[in-house]
Amino acid sequence: DTPLRDLAAAKGRAIGTAVTGGKLNGTYAEVAAREFNWLTPGNAMKWESVEPSRGSFNWAEADQIVDFAEAHGQRVRGHTLVWHSQNPGWLTNGGFTPAQLRTLLMDHIDTEVTRYRGRVTAWDVVNEPFNEDGTYRQTIWSDALGQDYIAEALTRARAADPGAKLYINDYNVEGVNAKSTALYNLVRSLKERGVPIDGVGLQAHLILGQVPGTFQQNIQRFADLGVDVAITELDIRMQLPATDAKLAQQAADYRAVMDACVAVDRCTGVTVWGFTDSDSWIPDFFEGYGAATPYDENYAPKPAYHAIAASLGGT
Ligand code: G3I
Repeated sequence: DTPLRDLAAAKGRAIGTAVTGGKLNGTYAEVAAREFNWLTPGNAMKWESVEPSRGSFNWAEADQIVDFAEAHGQRVRGHTLVWHSQNPGWLTNGGFTPAQLRTLLMDHIDTEVTRYRGRVTAWDVVNEPFNEDGTYRQTIWSDALGQDYIAEALTRARAADPGAKLYINDYNVEGVNAKSTALYNLVRSLKERGVPIDGVGLQAHLILGQVPGTFQQNIQRFADLGVDVAITELDIRMQLPATDAKLAQQAADYRAVMDACVAVDRCTGVTVWGFTDSDSWIPDFFEGYGAATPYDENYAPKPAYHAIAASLGGT
């Protein structure tokens, strides 16, 4: 079989996976290198990972993943600079003033983006800024800086690496709905103001049989605004145990997501949130659910794998 990355390259698309640095050896590393042309560190670039105590940095896993990617001709999505979650305790419990938080955030963006300048192709600058109803999520950042923390973060990231593509990334924004419309309106207003924004990331943590019917239409409306679209964290979970029927439905769902992306020129590609069921967040977070990725726990490709290949023109 032709590796997914070769099929994707022939179509000018990205096929990526989130990875865990500690697993990048043996079969896991072989499959990650052979099948994918983009990597996203699943946790290694988050603030709590890179600066566990104030002023004391740990870049080991992030460096490892970036080095691995370069050794294998892969690009890197940086994930993520500004989020309400997985921040270090010293930051969230530090009793900082709004002015101090602004300085801390801007320094954080500077430090991390500068470190990987020219090596990280695209950054998820802001992660998950919206509530389900399309209002802004209240976070440590909106409390301290107001809603314009988003524009400030994008502007600072652009200054730190003018060559990197800058994204806003969120979940439950795959179909046309209140949340994706809020994201749409934000991107439109950022562009009107001249704030740097290159793309939107649609995470796509989906449930079996529930690919939104408006997925392609939604990708298209962002493209028509003049930004790129990336599917950044695709997985499709099912209630365990997996059966042949569920795996067939999952393959159809993966195919639908891939086809929606491939149909729109500005959809740059698809990243899966872990390529093997042995490296997926789903079982830990959704009791009784799993089997969400294209490879089983023993690295055997599932029907979903073949559906991805078929969408990319493979046989
Ligand atoms: O590193 C510790 C380890 O030392 C400890 O033994 C173990 C025990 O629980 O926990 C480990 O940390 C876990 C970490 O993943 C690394 O495996 C955390 O508990 C766990 O909460 C954390 O989960 C991550 C999750 O974000 C947290 O929100 C997932 O791996 C990661 O895949 C997931 O990714 C997010 C994206 O960043 C944003 N979009 C949603 C997506 C899924 O939640």
